[in-house]
Amino acid sequence: MTANELRQKYIDFFISKGHKQIAGKSLVPENDPTVLFTTAGMHPLVPYILGEPHPAGTRLVNYQKCIRTGDIDAVGDSSHLTFFEMLGNWSLGDYFKEEAIRMSYEFLTSSQWLGIPPEKLSVTVFEGDAEVPRDDVSASVWKTLGIPETRIYYLPREDNWWGPAGTSGPCGPDTEMFIDTGKPPCSPSCRPGCSCGKYFEIWNDVFMEYNKKADGTYEKLSRRCVDTGMGIERTVAILQGKKSVYDTEVFQPVIRAIEEVTGSRYGVSEDTDRSIRIIADHVRAATFILGDERSVRPSNVGQGYILRRLIRRASRHGRKLGREDAFLAVPARVVMEMYSPYYPSLQAAGETVLEELTKEEKRFLETLKKGEHEFEKLLPNLQKDPRKWIPGRIAFRLYDTYGFPIEITEELAREHGLTVDRKGFEEAFARHQELSKQGSEKVFKGGLADNSEMTTALHTATHLLHQALRMVLGDHVRQMGSNITAERLRFDFTHPSPLTPEQIKRVEDIVNQQIQADLPVKMEMMSLEEARKRGALAFFNDKYEDTVKVYSVGNFSKEVCGGPHVDRTGKLGKFVIQKEQSSSAGVRRIRAILIRE
Ligand code: ALA
Repeated sequence: MTANELRQKYIDFFISKGHKQIAGKSLVPENDPTVLFTTAGMHPLVPYILGEPHPAGTRLVNYQKCIRTGDIDAVGDSSHLTFFEMLGNWSLGDYFKEEAIRMSYEFLTSSQWLGIPPEKLSVTVFEGDAEVPRDDVSASVWKTLGIPETRIYYLPREDNWWGPAGTSGPCGPDTEMFIDTGKPPCSPSCRPGCSCGKYFEIWNDVFMEYNKKADGTYEKLSRRCVDTGMGIERTVAILQGKKSVYDTEVFQPVIRAIEEVTGSRYGVSEDTDRSIRIIADHVRAATFILGDERSVRPSNVGQGYILRRLIRRASRHGRKLGREDAFLAVPARVVMEMYSPYYPSLQAAGETVLEELTKEEKRFLETLKKGEHEFEKLLPNLQKDPRKWIPGRIAFRLYDTYGFPIEITEELAREHGLTVDRKGFEEAFARHQELSKQGSEKVFKGGLADNSEMTTALHTATHLLHQALRMVLGDHVRQMGSNITAERLRFDFTHPSPLTPEQIKRVEDIVNQQIQADLPVKMEMMSLEEARKRGALAFFNDKYEDTVKVYSVGNFSKEVCGGPHVDRTGKLGKFVIQKEQSSSAGVRRIRAILIRE
């Protein structure tokens, strides 16, 4: 079965079960500044899972383009991808566990659909803990369908639980479906979720059945939702019995184009294969980002920076394969041809995608050669240094003068048994920014579009505002969007009705009290799980970022955030709300400023 057939079958199956097909959304999330790209089909559906009625009804199905950037550096092996397509079906207060699992089982095993032999299936369900009991309902549905107890695995929260990362919100257990590839188990404890490759995850059904309250306790939701996700590339690889996604028809035409244009062969040497896979994955992702309905251009911030990294890394690997000039448009054209029928924005963007790609590639090529030359000159000395690292100022020069994203320098370093002094790099970067004094536009990982003093202050004020709104209005307040310029902040959040003048005054007062208290602002890096345990606010779909930054303002607020922030609230000045208005159904918008003497 090809990817195109799988996509169609999935949609047809769920339409036959009363679902409406809805269009996939942009790769750039509309109202969520906490993640750069859409990471799952449920991402654009969050407002509906939180209670908004969806115009298409309560049973939905679609395919969604997704990008996960957490593992960019792992791309090059036989399985990691940045861009992928996810199939999903949703129940918004409609069916729940029993029907969802029955439909999953039918789609997987029926000869009319995927026809996977049932004896190859294993499943996992939530094992329960002190707070939420074991998911016996899901387990018993699986048993009724004929999955024996020996192939039902009960796993803890870190494997079988979904959201929220913040203090409160909808969440619940999931049940994941695995195919046994027939490989021998790697150890007696080998089970689904083990990375040895015996078990291959094919589908995930998430059951949003609890609301986690601000006090940490759980209550049952009256309107329960189902959210499921199946990755197309991985699933076709397993259905076709292929060892790698790169061996399927999804990637082969792209790989052929890369072979042709670089004069190299796939499947001969591991080094070459790695470069070809990096180019294939990155070109695919870059094509979709450039050809998105909310089109992104290469830059040094946010999504534009990821796009730049993808294009420049692909380009450098092209050079490793011996291609000196711009060539990425050739495999990109193949991607465009394959996907335009399914993604109207690609069709609409047409040649501009290839033009923009080539422009960025040429910009990089102009300095790449000189940068590599510079690096090679330094190499003998770097290798003699017992620290075996590239000092921060050299990494910064490669970035600033030769356009090497820091991650490329790190990759170059690894290829020569070195590491990069990342802290030194960031210091050199900060020094440079201070020198150029004009609120430079360079932030490497997400964060603000500029980090002038005023913007940074407004960013910290946004955290204070968020917490104050939760105190005055309640824990249902959830950040839906944030937009900050050097003049003002704009904050969108869930709340059903206009704020009264008294509420606005109370919010202002609370924020100003925190400013007067001159609270320290601290940043800590931790796993998302740890952040969640400590009650940090975050967008609840943030499951994919492994390490997050958590900013605390005294004991007043704690949020997962990319920064930057001021170090003390006393620097903020006086906080004034200028406007409060509706932003969209169930979402309010506040515009506020800081007055500083
Ligand atoms: N949102 C769930 C996932 O990404 C279905 O696995």
